[in-house]
Amino acid sequence: MKRLCVIPGDGIGHEVVPSAVRVLERLMPSLQVTEAEAGWECFQRHGCSVPDTTLKLMREYGAGLFGAVSSPAHRVEGYRSAILTLRQDLKLSVSLRPVRSWPGLSTRMDVNLLILRENSEGLYVGHEHMASADMAIAERHISRQASEHVAQRAAEVARLRDSQRITLVHKANVLPLTCGLFRDSCRNVLAAEGLAGLVDERLVDVAALQLIERPQDFDLLVTTNLFGDILSDLACYWSGGLGLAPSLNWGRGISIAEPVHGSAPDIAGSGKANPLAAILSAALLLRYHWHAGLLADQLERAVELLLTELSVAELGDQTTDIIERELLKRL
Ligand code: NAI
Ligand code: MG
Repeated sequence: MKRLCVIPGDGIGHEVVPSAVRVLERLMPSLQVTEAEAGWECFQRHGCSVPDTTLKLMREYGAGLFGAVSSPAHRVEGYRSAILTLRQDLKLSVSLRPVRSWPGLSTRMDVNLLILRENSEGLYVGHEHMASADMAIAERHISRQASEHVAQRAAEVARLRDSQRITLVHKANVLPLTCGLFRDSCRNVLAAEGLAGLVDERLVDVAALQLIERPQDFDLLVTTNLFGDILSDLACYWSGGLGLAPSLNWGRGISIAEPVHGSAPDIAGSGKANPLAAILSAALLLRYHWHAGLLADQLERAVELLLTELSVAELGDQTTDIIERELLKRL
């Protein structure tokens, strides 16, 4: 039996996650769902942003669906970002972020790419210090092991998607040690996997320009943590913006699906949150964690049908409930 640990978090996480769970339950009627806490409200209640009970449940269940968390605007003693804690403690060391055109929302219909972002190190190790009153230093950690791991996952995704090109994105001309190690480790793994013929590379600045100029030329992009964070937000412009951007924090036997958007305090409680990013994140759990590609296809086709039949204006005016109901009709 499949089990799912549900972590709504803060703000609209409480609205979009239950909606995505109801959709998943339609596709997997025997799914066992248990809710767990994390985030800013949780920190205010318990003094920690991710309780041990949540980590334990995640380890036991393997699959998680996370909404979004709010972050305090100023430094708060003892507070640690909930999603960074989950990614690090559960070794969810790759983030998978697909971007595709959707009818009615996208200004071009030929985009279908996927960004695989190293999710555990790079500049996000969070080692910052003041070397003097006028000099702040951030460390960037790149390891052979984490770089090889993201390349191995890229090989798996390339086979599943039947990819024709794998683009390594880096800045090895300026950062030859860190980016050089990333690029060479990825190249070695992909060659060992027999995929050397598909590998291509781009400097990150050129990749940003080309993602705007000719996004249709990209298939699978593999990159480091910060570059992947920025490029995936940029690329999701083609799918119609944050409301449609899903992601999967992908570990070995343990994954947390997560819409790219935040807790949207400006609309939280109004019923206006679009649940589709959370629902499409659930589709990633189906495809990459549960290996249920046919169910994922069915769910993505239903979203496509919904977007074909409802105009953007109609969609924009809808509440979370109506979008969910209209989607369920098309499943
Ligand atoms: P945000 O993504 O929450 O909101 C940006 C804008 O997009 C807002 O106008 C919001 O109403 C709208 N929006 C976002 N998701 C939507 C949806 N599903 N349907 C309709 N409209 C949607 O980003 P923002 O405002 O920068 O951050 C708000 C809070 O969220 C902050 O505390 C931030 O730290 C946190 N955040 C958390 C993330 C996470 O949990 N992974 C990611 C990004 C931000
Ligand atoms: Mg981001």
